[in-house]
Amino acid sequence: MRTRFIVGNWKMNKTASEAAAFVRELARQVTDLGGIHVGLTPPFTALQAVRDALGPASPFLLGAQNLYWEDKGAFTGEISGSMLKDLGCRFVLVGHSERRQFFGDQDSWTNKKVLAAIRHGLQPILCVGETLQDRDAGNTDQVIQRQLHAALWGIEPQALGSLTIAYEPVWAIGTGRAASPDQAVPVHRLIRRTLDELSGTDLGHQVRILYGGSVTPTNIADFLFSEEIDGALVGGACLDPACFATLFSVALRSTPSTA
Ligand code: 13P
Repeated sequence: MRTRFIVGNWKMNKTASEAAAFVRELARQVTDLGGIHVGLTPPFTALQAVRDALGPASPFLLGAQNLYWEDKGAFTGEISGSMLKDLGCRFVLVGHSERRQFFGDQDSWTNKKVLAAIRHGLQPILCVGETLQDRDAGNTDQVIQRQLHAALWGIEPQALGSLTIAYEPVWAIGTGRAASPDQAVPVHRLIRRTLDELSGTDLGHQVRILYGGSVTPTNIADFLFSEEIDGALVGGACLDPACFATLFSVALRSTPSTA
């Protein structure tokens, strides 16, 4: 049984003091996560403030939006896995489409980043997704498989089983135009099949696969209705504490169809 996972990707939003105020308000509104895993990924500059505001007993999981693959050295502007681990991060996003689009993150980099995250005991959330052009050209499956093969090359089957994958169609991010569950579910199935192939075992069913792209409190239940979709990676709707709290209270109440 895979535990549901709702992750708020704050992107480049909130100063450290805004982040601390946000987290205090969130903790005031939500006292019980009811067995769902809920992750927060503030910008690097707010990680310490969020950690302090959450306190040691908080059920919220702290994560980061990116990392560099080297452990230390002359890499101006970069942040290593050990730095994130030291700040209490439990997981890290890798290969988000905004990294790929605006900062040149290539498939080969995602592989180094996934390996670095695993080495430092951080759970990678590997983001994959096709552009509208890819989808319109009928290339969605090919793109997703290429991204998975490249990012997961050389990773031990045991480590593969502990990954989380986020399927985020690029055309659905920040557009208010979410994929329909009918569009997302076949891609989630393809991801599981690809993980089986890569590992040579049937571990695809162990791996949590989140959907991301214009998820809101209004549409999240539609995604969670499918047992293929284990949670959500949420951008815009995670920035307001009441909206984010509503989102995971809906997630808590919605049960997958067994049909
Ligand atoms: P939105 O929820 O704003 O579409 O962003 C999704 C996303 O990119 C999460 O990583």
